[in-house]
Amino acid sequence: MADAVLGIETSCDETSAAVLVTGELASLVILSQDIHKVFGGVVPELASRAHLAALPAVVDRALAEAGLAPSAIDAVAVTAGPGLAGALLVGVVYAKSFAFAGGRALIGVHHMEGHLFAPAIEDRDLAPPFVALLVSGGHTLLLDVPAWGRYRLLGETRDDAAGEAFDKVATLLGLGYPGGPAIEKLAREGDPTRFSFPRPMIAEGFEFSFSGLKTAVLHAVRASDNLERDRAHLARGFQDAVLDVLVTKLERAVRATGYTTAVLGGGVACSRTLAARAAERLAGVARVAVASPRLNADNAAMIARAGWHRLRLGERSDWTLDARADLPLPGLEVGEPTHHAPRTTDSR
Ligand code: KG4
Ligand code: ZN
Repeated sequence: MADAVLGIETSCDETSAAVLVTGELASLVILSQDIHKVFGGVVPELASRAHLAALPAVVDRALAEAGLAPSAIDAVAVTAGPGLAGALLVGVVYAKSFAFAGGRALIGVHHMEGHLFAPAIEDRDLAPPFVALLVSGGHTLLLDVPAWGRYRLLGETRDDAAGEAFDKVATLLGLGYPGGPAIEKLAREGDPTRFSFPRPMIAEGFEFSFSGLKTAVLHAVRASDNLERDRAHLARGFQDAVLDVLVTKLERAVRATGYTTAVLGGGVACSRTLAARAAERLAGVARVAVASPRLNADNAAMIARAGWHRLRLGERSDWTLDARADLPLPGLEVGEPTHHAPRTTDSR
């Protein structure tokens, strides 16, 4: 039995631990490393050191908030990749020690599979088949998910990830890191008609490209004679372009598969604007499942949830589990979507 799962996530700049008991979230602690703000981006070596200093206390806090002694934990799920090698290593070594010392099961989890499982924490009925759009600082993945653990890659980004584009444009606009939340907030005050940016690769297919859009914003910033006045309008124009591309491809994938559920995950899915636009576009076609923002940003609850799924299937990692910065998504196949089910007009 692996009913009480301790989740650990240290792939980037959040030190996080969570406890999941039979799939229910018992506690979640997320410590965001402030130190990177002054550098305008994550400094890997500083991230590793901060994880090392904070992780034991973060785990203790998660156990205390769950009201459980360490002895009550049956299994440990840890992000094994992808991410920053040194940062991942801190979590993996800690998880291995914790599991080994208590004779507990250990399972290594792919970070993006964690993001995929996040909405299933709050929505216990969520089940494949569905289309998933996973958008983070490092990835932009459009997946056909016929079953948990089986992922057909429909499209990904050819250059920058969606979150990366938000972060880079935020820097161009003189906003802080991370850029996504700052752009979303500022865009609310922006006039959508002032700047119209290109929607790269929107016309067909499932692939993404965001680096040209970033360059277009750069040119507009340079051409502006009053950045103070234009900043909110630029943020609005950029955000509208990115979200239009994301939602258009998501809709295309939903129509191609005939599924009636679409899942949004990853840090960019913290954007309530993205969730609202997707729901609007897919109204009458598919329901949109998206977790609360704190479960979409990097956190250990999603890792515990994905790990719990694999543990229940009898999967275990052994003591050779290693951190891998470029870990491939397990169960990933590349291919065209197959139309699975007839869709009726009232299937929501
Ligand atoms: O999943 P995540 O927390 O970390 C990675 O695995 O990369 O994603 C972080 C990304 C950052 O690029 C951040 O700017 C973006 O998610 N993000 C957002 C919003 N909140 C976070 N992007 C757009 N709108 C938001 N509200
Ligand atoms: Zn992430």
